[in-house]
Amino acid sequence: MSSSYKVTLIPGDGIGPEVVNAAVRILEATGVKFEWESYAAGAEAFEKYHEYIPKELTESIERTHVGLKGPVTTPIGGGFSSINVALRKQFELFANFRPIRNLPAVPTRYPGVDLVIVRENTEGLYSGIEHEVVPGVVESLKIITEKASTRISRFAFEYARRMHRKKIHAIHKANIMKLSDGLFIRCSRNISKEYPEITYGEHIVDNTCMQLVMNPYQYDMLLLENLYGDIISDLCAAFVGGLGLVPGANFGHECAIFEAVHGSAPDIAGKDIANPTAVLRSGILMLRHLGEENAANHIRLALEKVYTERTHVTRDVGGTAGTSEFADAMVEALHTIPPPQPELHEVEL
Ligand code: NAI
Repeated sequence: MSSSYKVTLIPGDGIGPEVVNAAVRILEATGVKFEWESYAAGAEAFEKYHEYIPKELTESIERTHVGLKGPVTTPIGGGFSSINVALRKQFELFANFRPIRNLPAVPTRYPGVDLVIVRENTEGLYSGIEHEVVPGVVESLKIITEKASTRISRFAFEYARRMHRKKIHAIHKANIMKLSDGLFIRCSRNISKEYPEITYGEHIVDNTCMQLVMNPYQYDMLLLENLYGDIISDLCAAFVGGLGLVPGANFGHECAIFEAVHGSAPDIAGKDIANPTAVLRSGILMLRHLGEENAANHIRLALEKVYTERTHVTRDVGGTAGTSEFADAMVEALHTIPPPQPELHEVEL
């Protein structure tokens, strides 16, 4: 534990600044001290610095090794490449970690979901290698390497061992993409042999979608390459009440950047109605990463109180509150609930 943590803050765009500011207020209300180094990224940064990822931002992450990030808009069908993908590659944030867990009193068809998604974050179709072969014919290359597939499998199995998880399913389409997805599952199969206490399975991605919607409880952890991980994360977010609730972390060996699963939600931006819970829960993951377990558990308790009372929750989960009203209620709850005693076991979220 440190007296103050330097953290790189990327407010992002769309709903980003609203939800990130709310999360920052709540994180600070735990009493943990932060020195935020705030930088724009994407279109806003380009206007100011003529760079989508400004040098100052890169240097800040190299210095702090920890980031809290809001969503950044990526133009569709043209324009600049994704800043999110670029940051993950630049800092080798190879493991995208997304716990899917219900909050109390959020209406959903599936109570008691407890799933962990581990997504490879640096390659696959997100390598961004595309070209026009001849007019009317384009190619997008899917890059899968033994190194990255082994590294992400190792991350998932190590995590499962540490957190006493029971099962990992590697998700693939190796019946069609025999070489690329074939290599991915060969690597996860090899790694699985070193963890005999963890049940290992393989499911084809289309079947997985159906299986998840029929019965999400049959899965414990999902291990996926980049694109399937992206798509299945949004599907699983629906189990627990939507994208406003699901956090994420991008881990590398040197740095970690914490960000929600959701995007910049232009349809609701600037209206003070977005739910900051997903970014806040990403902040909980960040607190745990920093070793601030008590503060993380304190926010968890405050979230349980605010969600159980339902008076100050946002409209995506059936309430009427705005982003700032929710943040006020969370700050108030942190001031009224006593900080929890240290827990003996490690918790995820
Ligand atoms: P999105 O996740 O921004 O929104 C999908 C739906 O969920 C929308 O109806 C939105 O209103 C709702 N939603 C999302 N977050 C919410 C929140 N916190 N509270 C309440 N409702 C919420 O996905 P979309 O519209 O496909 O993408 C918008 C932009 O975001 C695109 O430019 C995309 O590239 C970018 N994006 C960025 C990500 C990142 O920065 N990590 C991740 C995903 C998308």
